[in-house]
Amino acid sequence: MRIAGRHHRTIALAADGWSVEVIDQTLLPFAFELRPLQSLEDAAQAISGMIVRGAPLIGVTAAYGVALAMRADPADASLRQAIETLGATRPTAVNLQWALTRMAEALQPLAPRLRAERAYAEAGAIAEEDVRCCETIGRHGLALLRELAARASGRRLNVLTHCNAGWLACVDWGTALAPIYAAHENGVPVHVYVDETRPRNQGAALTAFELGAHGVPYTLIADNAGGHLMQRGRIDVCLVGCDRATACGDVANKIGTYLKALAARDNGVPFYVALPFSSIDWRMNDGLAQIPIEDRAAREVTHVTGIDEYGRRLEVCIAPADAAAENPAFDVTPAGLITGIITERGVARADRAGLAALYPERDAPRRAGA
Ligand code: MRU
Repeated sequence: MRIAGRHHRTIALAADGWSVEVIDQTLLPFAFELRPLQSLEDAAQAISGMIVRGAPLIGVTAAYGVALAMRADPADASLRQAIETLGATRPTAVNLQWALTRMAEALQPLAPRLRAERAYAEAGAIAEEDVRCCETIGRHGLALLRELAARASGRRLNVLTHCNAGWLACVDWGTALAPIYAAHENGVPVHVYVDETRPRNQGAALTAFELGAHGVPYTLIADNAGGHLMQRGRIDVCLVGCDRATACGDVANKIGTYLKALAARDNGVPFYVALPFSSIDWRMNDGLAQIPIEDRAAREVTHVTGIDEYGRRLEVCIAPADAAAENPAFDVTPAGLITGIITERGVARADRAGLAALYPERDAPRRAGA
């Protein structure tokens, strides 16, 4: 997508042809810097330190992490260690395990001398597929937004989104924001209410940044304002991303998503989740019982980071020094609160039959008892 009129992706091979460049998302929206990843350790640190974040981008970065490891040492033990190290970086987004499994399946059967080249090719293919998926999610979501806009009879269509499920969370386009970009490009008058998304403020820092850079009108709101706006008829649709969906359509996404889904249900506002196939965990049937929820540092709750009037980056404490704090990073929205799931194959009902109808090849083994 565009920043100052220039097209960017979140991750790409560097000019040297082997190292990987990512946008350092810990610096946004105040500075735009590329950071080189030159080793397995760099890639693992980029994911756990949230230099890159967002479920699809975590998966692509992990795939390139395996490629960097194979370039350094393609032996079996090194491949095992790369997959183990990267797999331990963040627990909730299933795209990470999905990408690592795909890399392992591509590389394990090969002689070590063939692995590095194949690993780069596979990581590149995963990145390209993600771009195509997101673009297609955008097209399916556009049809939905057009329908809703028709009902809004000429006034702007107000979409509420949570966290960042835009191109910064993927390679390009985004998941939840892809339909919004498509609507904007196609003349649908779309406006986005952006939840700030405490504690790390991905809405304020990243979603506001990327929508603004691309020229999409938005308004930043405090996390607690969404329900109030819905009660007053000021939100036409909620559109969020996903870190892991179960085969039954329960969805884990950034903490606070569930509360928006509850408010949407209470106010008759449609609530859609956008995701690529790589975010569906077909082994799971019960989101609340089965999806692992990442616990992050209490400091993210007790402190906030920003810049002062001189542009200096500051972290300030907002709680008593000895405050006890807890920081679950994701929550689960049960399928029953979700109006539909927008995928690269179309819009599914949020239940087993709905997802299985779009992905019959994933449902067939289950029906056969495998
Ligand atoms: O902790 P983060 O910033 O990685 O969380 C990201 C989200 O929760 C996104 O909404 C989700 O990954 C969907 S991204 C397309």
